[in-house]
Amino acid sequence: MPTGPKTIIRLHTVKRIYKVGTERIHALDGLDLEVRENEYVAVMGQSGSGKSTLMNLIGCLDCATSGTYELDGQDVTTMSPAALAQVRNQKIGFVFQSFELLPRADALHNVELPLIYSRHPVWSRRKLAVEALTRVGLAERVDHRPNQLSGGEKQRVAVARALINHPSILLADEPTGNLDSKTSREILALFDRLHDEGQTIIMVTHESDVACHAQRIVRMLDGKVVSDLPTEQDTAYAYRNGGQRL
Ligand SMILES: Nc1ncnc2c1ncn2[C@@H]1O[C@H](COP(=O)(O)OP(=O)(O)OP(=O)(O)O)[C@@H](O)[C@H]1O
Ligand SMILES: [Mg+2]
Repeated sequence: MPTGPKTIIRLHTVKRIYKVGTERIHALDGLDLEVRENEYVAVMGQSGSGKSTLMNLIGCLDCATSGTYELDGQDVTTMSPAALAQVRNQKIGFVFQSFELLPRADALHNVELPLIYSRHPVWSRRKLAVEALTRVGLAERVDHRPNQLSGGEKQRVAVARALINHPSILLADEPTGNLDSKTSREILALFDRLHDEGQTIIMVTHESDVACHAQRIVRMLDGKVVSDLPTEQDTAYAYRNGGQRL
């Protein structure tokens, strides 16, 4: 029997409850999700539905209150913080809406940062950082600091930093949220190319035209997945529900 791409993410009845004072917020409320290698998944849902909480969990920046999470065949649910940090460094690349670059460091230094944490020798991390910047079309900007770069270029530096360790998964939480529509299209074209090259991508967005770049759209509400469909079918789903932006 043909065996298709392997499942790289397996979340089973995951809950994440935040405690604030006496209040308990069920940010993820029994969520199930599986993602296979080289899938390109968009996560949508109204503000507060749990999208960033889910991304932080998948990215090993946070832990579930209950339920299980298997990443690339490893059960990460019960890992120590140190082991989790190592998994994160090796397997996850994260891109945020606000770029999260060090303002005083040039593009090269921003990109080589994850390698400094994993104790790479200087010569090899410089070489890999230049390669990653070249991959995102920024070979000419290696010595520019963030304030000497456009918004789209800043986000491309962040993508290069996310890719430097060849992560199994690229996670992007509203990567085009701070960009104008032309620059957003450039970042999305870059994601399309990375996906064609084999990268697994999970991207949060509020915009249907951004989500349509993915192959599959997962919609969340109140910490649960309420719809999980191939993109063409989801467009019909959104239309059926009044075409509103969720
Ligand atoms: N650190 C935290 N402590 C307490 N509550 C939190 C924390 N982070 C998020 N929440 C709450 O958990 C719920 C889910 O938040 P989350 O940030 O995951 O939503 P989101 O879908 O990413 O929203 P948005 O589209 O606005 O970014 C919200 O009710 C939020 O107020
Ligand atoms: Mg969010």
